[in-house]
Amino acid sequence: QLAVTIPSLRAMRAAGQKIAMLTCYDASFAALMDRCGVEILLIGDSLGMVCAGYDSTLPVTVADVAYHTASVVRGRKNALVLADLPFGSYGTREQAYDSCATLMRAGAQMIKIEGGAWLAETVRFLVERGIPVCAHIGLTPQFVHQLGGYKVQGKTTEGAEQLKADARALQDAGAAIVLLEAVPAGLGKEVTDMLHVPTIGIGAGPDCSGQVLVMHDLLGVFPGRKARFVKNFMDGQTSIDAAVGAYVAAVKDGSFPAPEHCF
Ligand code: KIV
Ligand code: NA
Repeated sequence: QLAVTIPSLRAMRAAGQKIAMLTCYDASFAALMDRCGVEILLIGDSLGMVCAGYDSTLPVTVADVAYHTASVVRGRKNALVLADLPFGSYGTREQAYDSCATLMRAGAQMIKIEGGAWLAETVRFLVERGIPVCAHIGLTPQFVHQLGGYKVQGKTTEGAEQLKADARALQDAGAAIVLLEAVPAGLGKEVTDMLHVPTIGIGAGPDCSGQVLVMHDLLGVFPGRKARFVKNFMDGQTSIDAAVGAYVAAVKDGSFPAPEHCF
């Protein structure tokens, strides 16, 4: 098995091979996911909810993400390590750069940032300085109070057009991946067809270049409310290895997400 890189992810998209991504927060799970063939390990700011028990991602700091990133890096071999910029860490492009530098010193190989076309200038600033960026659009949980809850995005014609404009602007600014959260499956396909970089979906339909889930949802251990796009892969399995393996296989063969996981 070879190390996963931005060019290898692009080649996977070109070859029609689906990309499997999971959130990961520690070294033991990093080793397990890596040997199960997960291509990208995301140190999501969801760690604030699933590890720390906050009721949103807003309290998470750069130091929190850096600590978990360093832990994941020590456990993984080949998977690409993607870390989230948490709330309040990218108010200006200079602050974004400093936050990214902290996460990259901890071992992150790519940084994910929540926001649309308004972020394009920041993305370009980061990419020009050697920071690979994954743009996160659609339902962006750091905007929960503005959005009025964790709701499907891009349902209206206007919303769908905005999402497409955001995706295009972020790709043009140099984003290497565009992540789509909680948008109608048809729109997930449209955005994917429109872009040349890989898309990763969570509640964005089966036609994205890859899929991501929060590991606690995959294992059925998160006690909070379950989103429609969540599937417990422990059902019918007798080990965590088997559950993660089943997830990877289902992403690869296109059987996850099924219609019941889509909007
Ligand atoms: O923080 C996270 O886990 C995420 C994924 C849900 C995409 O951003
Ligand atoms: Na996140």
